[in-house]
Formats: sequence, C-alpha cells, structure tokens
Amino acid sequence: MRTQVVIIGGGPSGLLLGQLLHRKGIETVILERKTRDYVLARIRAGILETGLVNMMREAGVSERMDRECFVHHGTCISYENEMFDIDFHKLIGQNVIVYGQTELTHDLYDARDAVGARTIFEVEDVQICDADRDAPYVTFNSGGVEQRIDCDFVAGCDGFHGVSRTTIPDTVRKDYEKVFPFGWLGILSETPPVHDELIYANSDRGFALCSMRNENLSRYYVQCALTDKVEDWSDEDFWDELKRRVPEAIADKLVTGPSIEKSIAPLRSFVSEPMRWGRLFLCGDAAHIVPPTGAKGLNTAASDVHYLYEALVQYFQDNETHGIDHYSQKALARVWKAERFSWATTNLLHRFPDQSEFDLKMQRAEIESLHYNEVAQKWFAQNYVGLPY
Ligand code: FAD
Ligand code: DHB
Repeated sequence: MRTQVVIIGGGPSGLLLGQLLHRKGIETVILERKTRDYVLARIRAGILETGLVNMMREAGVSERMDRECFVHHGTCISYENEMFDIDFHKLIGQNVIVYGQTELTHDLYDARDAVGARTIFEVEDVQICDADRDAPYVTFNSGGVEQRIDCDFVAGCDGFHGVSRTTIPDTVRKDYEKVFPFGWLGILSETPPVHDELIYANSDRGFALCSMRNENLSRYYVQCALTDKVEDWSDEDFWDELKRRVPEAIADKLVTGPSIEKSIAPLRSFVSEPMRWGRLFLCGDAAHIVPPTGAKGLNTAASDVHYLYEALVQYFQDNETHGIDHYSQKALARVWKAERFSWATTNLLHRFPDQSEFDLKMQRAEIESLHYNEVAQKWFAQNYVGLPY
C-alpha cells in the first residue's frame, strides 16, 4: 500500500487531521489499535474551545455539533460556601461549548466513512520505519497478516501510550513530567445538571467538578486518592462526597441517580520535545498530557492538528517546507501555555497531601483575587476559552 500520510491512532487528533486533509485532496490511512466501538465508549473531555469548533466546521463535520451543543458564556468557581462566576462573554467577548469528545469522535468516524477514507482497526505491532529518511513506511499486523504502507509523512496521533513518541530516539527526545499525588473519580449519570454552568469547586475535602453533556446527562468528578479503586466507590458514596464539596445551595438541588459510567484518571503534566523527527510528527496526547482541570487536553490536541494541517497543505500544494520545519516550535509554544494554565488551575483548586497551613492561605488568597480582581479573571477567561492559534 501507498498513501500520502499514515495517521497512527483513530482518536480525535487523528480523525480530525484525516478529515481536514481529505478536504484538501490529501490521502491518508488511519491505523487504530482498538475497535471503533471501544474508541467510542471512552468518556473523556466535554468542553470545546472556539478553535476546535472552527476546525470541525472547516472539516465539514459540525452539523450535529452546531445543532446539539450548549454554548457556555462563563464558568463558576466555588470555595466552601462561596461561589462566583467568571463571565467570559462579558470579560473578553468569547465563549466555549459543551459537546462530548465521544460525540465529536462519532461525527468524525461517520464523516470518514462517508468519504470512503481508509481506517484499519485492531492493528498490532505498529512500527514506524525510516522516519528520518526521505521514504518512510509503517509496518503492522492486521488480522494475522503483516502489512506495509509507504508514505510521505507519518502523523503520530496515538495518545500517551502509543508507539510514535518512543520512535524518536532518546538522544533526540527530552521528556518533562510532573505527576500529581491524586486522581479524579468521574461519573456519568442520566440526571439533569445541577447548574447551567460548570462549577469548579475547591473545598477542605478536595476538589470537585460539576459538568454536563446535555439536559439529562451530567458528568461529575471528585478528587480521589491514587490508591482508590472504582469498586471502592458506590454511587451513594460518590454523591455524598460530591455534596460535601460544593456550596450548600448547590448540594441541596443536586439530583442524584445511578451512574452509567464510573472511572478514575490519574493527573499528570507531561511534554515531550521535539514534536517532529524527520518525517514523523507528533500530535495531541502522543506528545503532551495536561491534568484535566481547565479542560485543555482535547483542545491542545486540536491546536497541534491545526498547525500540522496547515504545514502539510503548504507542503503538498505549494511544495513549501516552512510549515513542517517550524511545526514543533509553533505547536510547543502553545502547548507550554496550556500546560501552565492546567498546572496553575490544578494547584489552585486541589488539596495536596503535603500542603501546609501557609500553603492553604496562599491558595485561598489566590482564589479570592480571582473572585474580586477583574484582571485575574480576564487572564483566566483568555486561557479557558483558548489562546489564539
Ligand atoms: P487519544 O484520544 O488517546 O487517541 C489515541 C488513539 O490512538 C486511541 O484511539 C488509541 O487506541 C490509539 N493507539 C494507541 N496506540 C496505538 C498504536 N500503537 N497503534 C495504533 N493506534 C494506537 N481532556 C479534557 O479536556 N477533559 C477531560 O475530562 C478529559 N478526561 C480524560 C480522561 C482520561 C481517562 C484520559 C486518558 C484523557 C482525558 N482527557 C480529557 C484528555 C483528552 O481526552 C485527550 O487530550 C484527547 O483524547 C487527546 O486525543 P488524541 O487523539 O491525541 O489521543
Ligand atoms: C469536563 C472535564 C474537564 O476536565 C473540565 O475541565 C471540564 C469539563 C467534562 O468531562 O465535562
């Protein structure tokens, strides 16, 4: 087989890149390790920045999103019984939307099917070969048969546990990492959201987040110990704990019900540099991870896709290499800003095991300055809605 771009990973980064390139007449093959149903069953991000929304429109896959999404003009932050709103719209004239990663991925798979672009599921032993030469190729096993695809470029969109990043030799690659000493326990429940905006809650008992997917589907999270297991948490325990972490007025109107999904995610900041090695480009979680506080994971993956898409179009349409030569530098400049926002928001809102009384006073002072200082709110709003590409 031969194609122009082999995309490793059929998550949101790979699918979006594939669809955008297809619209410019650039052929791709996507290799995905899991089944389509498995990919679609993963409950992950829920908040989309305008940059990602615009790319979905450019890719011609925004019809359902535009119809079903909820526009959020701001977000709420609570500490003990206090709660305040950061009004993005009033502060900077922008907003975000609520539309689940699952739905977005679904739309992208449907669009890929409709244009007849090739996706090979359940591939094993993917290997990227000769990425530092002029004629790279990818080998893999599909249904017990060894296969090879020759290509011009490889896009490594295979997430944190993929093969793309580690194809870059240790002598070239440098990883930066911070592991946080807690996780998030998340549940999805078919109940109406407790509030019309998201609530990020700082409390003595740890962080909590009240989010949503639609008018009868809520997503809630509580900070938990890294040693906790999903089986340790009954639905009742979860709801009790959530109620203790949000203002009383919110707890009183919380509608509870059985969870339809429950999972624990550890929190980590991670960046791998560079994001390009020869003809291999890393995109999304393959190159970086943020702790989820601030909803930057999927959105940062999307900004990589934007830079790579532009670079590849320049190359194939104008034979211009400036975009691919500067991809890593451009993508990383934005990645580090998203890392900083996610790290700062995580520090602002969580309880850390080694926090001293002084540290707690500092955290409180910082939250209060966000509550009462418009400059601080503007900084938060600009980062939350997404920095420009
Ligand atoms: P992925 O979504 O990880 O997709 C990579 C794909 O590559 C997968 O389908 C995988 O099966 C495939 N793959 C892996 N290895 C190979 C291989 N060797 N060969 C072929 N295919 C391979 N972000 C938020 O903003 N908010 C959240 O609430 C949030 N919650 C999250 C919860 C969890 C448990 C995780 C892991 C992430 C969460 N994120 C969240 C982050 C967000 O979901 C990711 O940033 C986003 O999925 C990145 O997309 P991606 O396409 O780069 O990577
Ligand atoms: C969701 C997750 C986040 O990490 C976040 O900051 C906001 C919303 C969610 O899953 O809805």
